[in-house]
Amino acid sequence: VTLLIKTDIERGNAWADALTANYPELKTVNWPYKGDPAKIDYALVWQPPRGELKRYPNLKAIFSVGAGVDHLASDPDLPEGVPVVRMVEPGLTAGMSEYVVLAVLNHHRFILDYAAQRREKVWAEIPQLPAEARQVGVLGLGVLGRDALETLKPFGFRLAGWSRSPKSITGVTCFHGSGGLGEFLAGSDILVCLLPLTAETTGILDKETFAKLPAGAAVINVGRGGQLVEEDLLAALDSGHLSGATLDVFQKEPLPKKHPFWTHPRVFMTPHIASMTVPESAVRAVVANIQRLEAGEALQHVVDLKRGY
Ligand code: NAP
Ligand code: GLV
Repeated sequence: VTLLIKTDIERGNAWADALTANYPELKTVNWPYKGDPAKIDYALVWQPPRGELKRYPNLKAIFSVGAGVDHLASDPDLPEGVPVVRMVEPGLTAGMSEYVVLAVLNHHRFILDYAAQRREKVWAEIPQLPAEARQVGVLGLGVLGRDALETLKPFGFRLAGWSRSPKSITGVTCFHGSGGLGEFLAGSDILVCLLPLTAETTGILDKETFAKLPAGAAVINVGRGGQLVEEDLLAALDSGHLSGATLDVFQKEPLPKKHPFWTHPRVFMTPHIASMTVPESAVRAVVANIQRLEAGEALQHVVDLKRGY
């Protein structure tokens, strides 16, 4: 069984080493691959060039290195009938929940304001609010959204979530569909976006959404840059309707040097690092799935490409 690996350069060997340790019979080859394309059974990829995966006539499954599969779903030449599997692994989930807690607490504890005061050498207290005075609303109740909410529970925030289909989660007020979005937003003092990028979620963080949030709300985008209308966010921050934003993903990555987000005092930003797949734990998920398929069983976490996630 041969697996083609295309990840980022630094982690290429980490993946191959971890895979071989978990599945000694598995042969791994790195992209770019100059051998016979017919020999490739599986591909584990991050942002492959458009049309690349069509070159392998015997591909049985495509594994995304990341949770998001927009880098694959957007390829018009993706081979038909080959299942695409998104990444679900404990390291990636834990990393995202850490980041969401960090970002929520940053806004809750006025860290942007204290950073501004520090620049001006101002020593002044801002009255603190108890956690239960704020509602954290998470857009997307998938693997990552649900874990982030669970991780937030001990802090005492009121919690809410929004998804496509109805959900019931203890301690979380759940909303769904376009009908539930308005009420969900109206209660979200800190809004976290953990949606996959699809035709329906593109541009969902726009001026209409921001207008429905309570005055002084904060927005955390850890989904995808395509979900945020950047100029609408800037307008909502500059008008004072939104108090701040934490951004990890952007329309264009790397963020262009001239982009106003780099220096905006109400923006905290990171370079798409909210969470990264951990090869050592992720290979167990990939190997288990390959073994499942090789044994004639169904793959887990297969993406519905029509739905886009
Ligand atoms: P997932 O398990 O597939 O969950 C997706 C959730 O979004 C589901 O609850 C789904 O609703 C909801 N959803 C999708 N389309 C919707 C719509 N049109 N309206 C309302 N809800 C909708 O995905 P995940 O593993 O949690 O990952 C979520 C995303 O996080 C990824 O796609 C990726 O873009 C992003 N991510 C970012 C980073 C980073 O470092 N910044 C790292 C990892 C992942 P249903 O439950 O009803 O289907
Ligand atoms: C990272 O952005 C991922 O989708 O895992």
